[in-house]
Amino acid sequence: MKKTILLTILLAVFASCSDSDTYEDIETPPTTPTNPTNPTTGVTYNKDVKSIIDANCVSCHSSGRSAAFRPLTTFAQVKAAVESAGLLGRIQLQSGQQGLMPQGGRMAQANIDLIVKWNTDGLKEN
Ligand code: HEC
Repeated sequence: MKKTILLTILLAVFASCSDSDTYEDIETPPTTPTNPTNPTTGVTYNKDVKSIIDANCVSCHSSGRSAAFRPLTTFAQVKAAVESAGLLGRIQLQSGQQGLMPQGGRMAQANIDLIVKWNTDGLKEN
């Protein structure tokens, strides 16, 4: 009889231990999606923005070109262009509007949204 009671207590303790959440279970964040065109995490220059600028802007905006082509090859240059050269406004103009960047035609909306969100997220490098 004593053995049965002891066994029951042990089983109960064991069961309650394995049921409870561990500290790790509670602290583990949910997996974050990494789709760059629909970021739910903060947008950063190195993770998201640099590849868009390299593919769409640097052919004209590099230091090898004349002074009219403000270089956009580094984090500091692109950040400064957002802050003081109207980069966000230029990329959001409609096709055919004067001043649209890139000059050849409007980028995909996903790219535009990403750069706008980069600004909203604080123009972080990393
Ligand atoms: C085909 C060449 C070309 C491409 C590609 C291009 N630009 Fe430009 N960009 C120019 C020229 C030329 C000017 C100067 C004339 C003007 O202000 O419209 C300029 C001006 C700008 C300015 C204003 C600079 C200042 O100092 O006032 C910004 C900002 C800009 N571009 C951003 C971009 C961004 C961002 C991209 C890519 C998404 C891009 N450009 C792609 C040719 C280009």
